[in-house]
Amino acid sequence: MRFLYRWNILLKVLSLIHHVMSDTPCVVRSLSSVEGEEVVLKVDLADLSEVSWMTRPGNYHIARTYIGGKIYIRGNNYNGRLFGESDGSLRISNLSRDDQGLYRANQRGPESLQCLEYYLQVYKQVSEDDFQIFYSVSRHEGCSVNITCAVHKSDLTVTWISSEGDIIVNGNVISIHDPSRNAIYTCTAGNPGTNRSISVNPWSHCHKGRRHTRNQADYTWKNIGRLILSGCILVLACGFFTSHLKTLRDITPNMWLIRGKLYS
Ligand SMILES: *[C@@H]1O[C@H](CO)[C@@H](O)[C@H](O)[C@H]1NC(C)=O
Ligand SMILES: *[C@@H]1O[C@H](CO)[C@@H](O)[C@H](O)[C@H]1NC(C)=O
Ligand SMILES: *[C@@H]1O[C@H](CO)[C@@H](O)[C@H](O)[C@H]1NC(C)=O
Repeated sequence: MRFLYRWNILLKVLSLIHHVMSDTPCVVRSLSSVEGEEVVLKVDLADLSEVSWMTRPGNYHIARTYIGGKIYIRGNNYNGRLFGESDGSLRISNLSRDDQGLYRANQRGPESLQCLEYYLQVYKQVSEDDFQIFYSVSRHEGCSVNITCAVHKSDLTVTWISSEGDIIVNGNVISIHDPSRNAIYTCTAGNPGTNRSISVNPWSHCHKGRRHTRNQADYTWKNIGRLILSGCILVLACGFFTSHLKTLRDITPNMWLIRGKLYS
């Protein structure tokens, strides 16, 4: 009886060791984050005594965490970027693309040992330079606008949304016919970690050229006005000048011009 009991314990221990040492698959969860941000690899065992953390493949042991936030870090590959959370979870701060990969947590409880794996993906921040908007406007029978949201990175996906709900999306391109004045269309370029948006008002692109023509007409009218005004001033000036000449001709040699008055 006693022998059997010991045998049982031995088996249990052996199976635990096997579980930990072998590559038996354990639950794998996906996580994504962005460069420069932080991520928490959560434990899922409430009654923990210790969690050992490894990066895989290679089973490189990086840290041990405990309830209360205590942490032992092995090596300095993470440059002080590893932290223990109060529930025994592991936090990695200031993520870089190199942190992307598989992490395993061997969670040791009072009488159980459970493993958990995280596949962490670290995406680059989306910057303004990663995407661009192009317009193509046609004014046959109203105004048609094609707007292309072009991305320069393969891991970015594009979504268009409209404030009007009237949107025809063909890949990265939207086609709008006679856009209403206040309609706003928003292109979002993103990855599962982060995204960035640009909003456009197609109406303003339909009316850009037209406003320009009207402005030219305005200029023409202004110039005509100026021309007429200059003409008037010229005519008036000529009038004054001739009347002045006439006055001078009326002065005979025996007249004296004293203080603007004529004396003979
Ligand atoms: C974050 O990591 C980068 C290198 O990946 C480093 O240049 C930067 O100083 C770090 N920032 C902080 C706040 O630690
Ligand atoms: C918009 O794209 C459609 C489909 O490619 C094309 O038939 C149409 O001529 C384009 N319109 C403009 C204004 O570029
Ligand atoms: C963009 O990111 C926010 C959170 O940062 C998210 O709520 C939203 O759904 C994302 N949008 C798209 C289109 O992916």
